[in-house]
Amino acid sequence: MFKKLDILDERDPRLRKKSIEATFPLSKEDKKLISRAVDHLTYSQIEEYEKKYDLRPGMGLAFPQLGLNKRIIIIVHEVEEGVFDNYVFINPKIVTESAEIIAAEAGEGCLSVNRDVDGHVPRHARVTVEGYDEQGNKIRVRAREELAIAFQHEIDHLDGILFFDRIDSDHPFYSEHEMRLI
Ligand code: NI
Repeated sequence: MFKKLDILDERDPRLRKKSIEATFPLSKEDKKLISRAVDHLTYSQIEEYEKKYDLRPGMGLAFPQLGLNKRIIIIVHEVEEGVFDNYVFINPKIVTESAEIIAAEAGEGCLSVNRDVDGHVPRHARVTVEGYDEQGNKIRVRAREELAIAFQHEIDHLDGILFFDRIDSDHPFYSEHEMRLI
């Protein structure tokens, strides 16, 4: 039975804390929460369930958004209609990043930010992320474009950073000449 997650709102000070490294083995509660986050994010991207359960569409969550101060992120990336790749990273670290900077043209959203925030968020176009899976095995992914943005957004949460912190208030929008917009 699907149960919607309780997600902290941006005003909650717990979202501003730096999270601590998770240790293995993960607790049952942590594993359960990871699996609920995967379900929540997947359902939120399928119109039928999005409506049925009144979900806001989102592709990523970080444990601090669920009230837990641990370095765990979950990304559910729709690669084609109805086909999803799941990424669960424990203690993720960006180990390489492209010099090229991009931004999502429509701006970013966050399941903890219940309002529209205008502005481009500069992100590396490509990143390599290392971390551990739920069993503690070392894993690594090379992400580009939308997925690279998602990893940077979620890892920011682990350091208490919200996407709008990275919008330059003096220059919130870039032109195609200044930055590649995707
Ligand atoms: Ni977010």
